[in-house]
Amino acid sequence: MNQPLRIAPSLLSADFARLGEEVSAVIAAGADLIHFDVMDNHYVPNLTIGPMVCQAIAPYCRRGDTPVPIDVHLMVKPVDALIPLFAQAGASIISFHPEASEHIDRTIQLIRSFGVKAGLVLNPATPLHVLDHVLEQLDLALLMSVNPGFGGQSFIESVLPKITAVRRRIQATGRDIWLEVDGGVNAKNIARVVAAGADTLVAGSAVFSGGDYPKAIAALRINAQATARAPATEALAESP
Ligand code: DX5
Ligand code: ZN
Repeated sequence: MNQPLRIAPSLLSADFARLGEEVSAVIAAGADLIHFDVMDNHYVPNLTIGPMVCQAIAPYCRRGDTPVPIDVHLMVKPVDALIPLFAQAGASIISFHPEASEHIDRTIQLIRSFGVKAGLVLNPATPLHVLDHVLEQLDLALLMSVNPGFGGQSFIESVLPKITAVRRRIQATGRDIWLEVDGGVNAKNIARVVAAGADTLVAGSAVFSGGDYPKAIAALRINAQATARAPATEALAESP
């Protein structure tokens, strides 16, 4: 397998009192995307950050002259009213859960109308058939490997065959649709997640909890690349 690999640190595990510095630090450490978790205490039992915070961190989301995309994961219901606000706040990708939209196709069109990439998020128990008539319109399929709402949960192993099934569906479209996995990804299991077909990996606690961001991101990348050469190999490098 020679697929690209993108590491997306989740700000949910960052120090919220120093978000700009945290964004700069993970970008300097090698982050490919900044994953921005939005929770509403309604669709999920937690409350986090909104478009004003997205706008505040946007100037920090660059490596030199190159923008680093903000990957907005909306865990809010209803979802449509927030999409224009996040598009104006600098989001490059906006993903939403099908359970949070009355009209999934319309919500995808709304996201794309702002020139923003659109993603659909499947919870561990959400069946794949929600992708049936919309996959070709998506830029990203996001598979949750924990139930949404909190960082630091354990990876749900039954998601691995689901990743492979979605990878096959993406290949059948012939389009470059990213396959992102979110929840409990770490240096020990990233090998299996990438071998299953993921190309974009969200990592919250695995990046932020040890304090050494370059070491943590390097451990994720090294282990994932080792997998590409030898899919059965277990993790080689430990996160700090
Ligand atoms: C969970 C969030 C995830 C989470 C990932 O609802 O969508 O992005 O923060 O954190 P870890 O990597 O710690 O599971
Ligand atoms: Zn997320």
